[in-house]
Amino acid sequence: MKRGTKSILFGVHQFLLHPLFVLQAWIIIYRSVPTLAEFMAILTHDLGYLGMPNMDGAEGSSHPARSAAFWRGKFGDFGNEVADIIIGHSRFHAAANRLPLSKLFQPDKLSTALYPRWLYLLLGNLSGEIKEYMHHYSKGLYTGVTAEGQSQTQWLIEIQGHLALMGLKGEDYHLVADQMQRSENEGNNGRT
Ligand SMILES: [Fe+2]
Ligand SMILES: [Fe+2]
Repeated sequence: MKRGTKSILFGVHQFLLHPLFVLQAWIIIYRSVPTLAEFMAILTHDLGYLGMPNMDGAEGSSHPARSAAFWRGKFGDFGNEVADIIIGHSRFHAAANRLPLSKLFQPDKLSTALYPRWLYLLLGNLSGEIKEYMHHYSKGLYTGVTAEGQSQTQWLIEIQGHLALMGLKGEDYHLVADQMQRSENEGNNGRT
């Protein structure tokens, strides 16, 4: 089974759990419940990982476009609205394609900080995706964060701190702006 499929079925993007944490984060950030279009975006924004052999490689990094394609042009204005919210949830994808971040970006980031650590570690190891993430961090893919030589728990504590601030402050958090600038320059595609 491909890693992207594992992530959706029993990994950190589990198709019910992840949207629940994103919904909780949405309410924390915006202090209101999402509209129907926003809710549909919350529910389906990562389903583009299905069938992908990696999370942050060339294939997995295109997941926002794949998730959005399900809605685009199929359900009238409503479908296009959902697609726009989905396509802007990834800062890498948005920057590389000169698109604005959508309202989903911040809750998606904060959601990762809301996972209990034991649960994230369990799911991340079941799907194997945590090794890919830690590898990318150790190679400096993410501006301002390195994870070389850290245990999984140390790494998770560090990134949950960053993701909580990204979620609460959005582009006002310096790492978001720095990373977007870098992605725009490099033309990176798709990572969240
Ligand atoms: Fe995503
Ligand atoms: Fe997500």
